[in-house]
Amino acid sequence: MVKILMVCLGNICRSPLADEGILKSKLPKNKFLIDSAGTANYHIGSTPGTRSIMVANKHGINISTLKGRQFIKDDSKVFDFIYVMDQSNYNNTIALAKNDSEKSKVKLILNETHPSKNFEIPDPHYGGDHGFENVYQILNEACSIIAASLN
Ligand code: 4NP
Repeated sequence: MVKILMVCLGNICRSPLADEGILKSKLPKNKFLIDSAGTANYHIGSTPGTRSIMVANKHGINISTLKGRQFIKDDSKVFDFIYVMDQSNYNNTIALAKNDSEKSKVKLILNETHPSKNFEIPDPHYGGDHGFENVYQILNEACSIIAASLN
């Protein structure tokens, strides 16, 4: 089983879309375990934000039953690939890694589509609705490339 974790700040906007919404739909369930987490503790136990649920619905995906959780130290050991949305997620995730091997699992997700550019997935939480469609499209492209490289 290959284990992949998507990480953002709150685990209610970007990473639930990336995880349940997008990557899971592109990889076989019997070979891949895919999960998401937030570096912050603000939304533990919360369902994704309404606008993330709506944009997922629009693309035929149901994320409404997901529950937010916080990234924990053990995640760096358990997961094989850890994709983070932005530099701040990267710093917070790396800070909990025990060694270089665990650190090397953590990657900015957009480096899969734009190698070495260190582009970030913008946080749509404080912006307008268009931001959610934009995030969906960017994540969809990145997840297609990740799925093709792993499958
Ligand atoms: P996310 O977006 O990291 O994509 O889940 C956010 C959600 C909530 C907050 C920040 C970012 N917040 O500060 O509550």
